[in-house]
Amino acid sequence: MSTSQEYIDQNKDKFVEELFELLRIPSVSTDSTKKDEIKKASQFLADQLNSLGLERVETFETPGNPIVYAEHCPHDDKPTVLIYGHYDVQPSDPDDLWDTPPFEPTIKDGLIYARGASDDKGQAFTHVKAVESYKKTGQELPVNVKFILEGEEEIGSPNLVPFLEEHKDLLECDMVLISDTAMFGEDQPSITYGLRGLAYMEVEVVGPNRDLHSGVYGGAVENPANVLCEIIAKLKDEDGVIQIPGFYDSVVELTEADRKAFAQLPFDQDAYKKSLDIKSVHGEKGYTTLERSSARPTLDVNGIWGGYQGEGAKTVLPSKANAKVSMRLVPNQEPKEIAQLFKKHVESIAPDTVKVKVTEHHGGHPAVTDLDFYGLKAGAKAFEEVYDKEVLFSREGGSIPIVADFKRVLGVESILMGFGLTSNAIHSPNENFSVKDFHRGIKTSAKFLELLPDFAE
Ligand code: BES
Ligand code: MN
Ligand code: MN
Repeated sequence: MSTSQEYIDQNKDKFVEELFELLRIPSVSTDSTKKDEIKKASQFLADQLNSLGLERVETFETPGNPIVYAEHCPHDDKPTVLIYGHYDVQPSDPDDLWDTPPFEPTIKDGLIYARGASDDKGQAFTHVKAVESYKKTGQELPVNVKFILEGEEEIGSPNLVPFLEEHKDLLECDMVLISDTAMFGEDQPSITYGLRGLAYMEVEVVGPNRDLHSGVYGGAVENPANVLCEIIAKLKDEDGVIQIPGFYDSVVELTEADRKAFAQLPFDQDAYKKSLDIKSVHGEKGYTTLERSSARPTLDVNGIWGGYQGEGAKTVLPSKANAKVSMRLVPNQEPKEIAQLFKKHVESIAPDTVKVKVTEHHGGHPAVTDLDFYGLKAGAKAFEEVYDKEVLFSREGGSIPIVADFKRVLGVESILMGFGLTSNAIHSPNENFSVKDFHRGIKTSAKFLELLPDFAE
């Protein structure tokens, strides 16, 4: 019989083929016409877990998309790891910018191109295959394992939080293991110990009761598109400091030690600029690019529209203009509080020549993992054995809101062991994930499960 690591080497191609099956399912959670695909993806994962001979596999229906749960807990005296991942994906549009179809996975130069390849099907699947490497070689798992795979992460996990609260006993564990982030760089593994939170807002500015001729009325009637631009321009000053009163009140400032740790990371700003084709970076004065992109709060327009968008020039003064604005949050900012501050401020600076409506979309809390947690040390060792490289500890700017809920509801830390790269183009056209990292990810996960008992307190 082979060892778990040997089994993973021997079955490399089979694992890729199975991942392709999952990637072919367009399980887009924002698209309500894709309910059947969501169901198919959850069924695929439940079948996969069932084929491993785990003690229990169950699909929980929710008012939204199903949650796939599994457990295999043969030990009384070993830690329990709850593995979290999401099988829903972002929409693929704009489809014409993909070099190969988003739901027909294709390998080119060692990269798997498909929507969800990295975020998060490819990464979540590494753990399913890691567990397989024990079960299919006749070995018992080195620790207890539970899986929770959801289909609503990309829409803010609306049904997972109530599920956690309702099933605290079922989900009891010593830690959560998540692969849904990026490594610091190619061949440079890292453990992410901080994620930002999110408050997402929509602003609508309404002026006259219809679109107007911009010559007949222009100059005499307020233009909602102009007003919207003015409001947005006032939300930050020239130093990139957000002007919403109270916005920074609960921000935990970076300590000297935090800043030193950031400064020591091998970040190449020139390569960063080059990869984005930009002449210079931009952000809050007094902070470095890494601090700005992972540990400082932000405010950004994500979409803005209104008025004429068609071909040529139509002379029109729009009656309405809209914007979607996201704010990334850091400890200890409260998403609900920040949303309220935003709403109050925007309403207060709007002129009375227009009506302004501010609404709130989903949000999420920031999270920081305790660097002394033993699970992180086991994760680092596992990475080091597989990648043969010292692991870095870094914070990331993206959000996985459920991480804060795992801590709040279940009282456990999360180990963010990402196998992706920032170049994976998640949420963008041509999303990709390297075959090599998929393979090393499976090995790292299996190694982690093996090493964990040695680190347990
Ligand atoms: N996996 C990402 C989050 C992520 C990406 C964290 C890269 C760190 C590095 C996740 O699927 C995601 O896209 N989250 C959303 C938030 C969610 C509430 C829609 C995000 O960060 O925009
Ligand atoms: Mn994700
Ligand atoms: Mn995502």
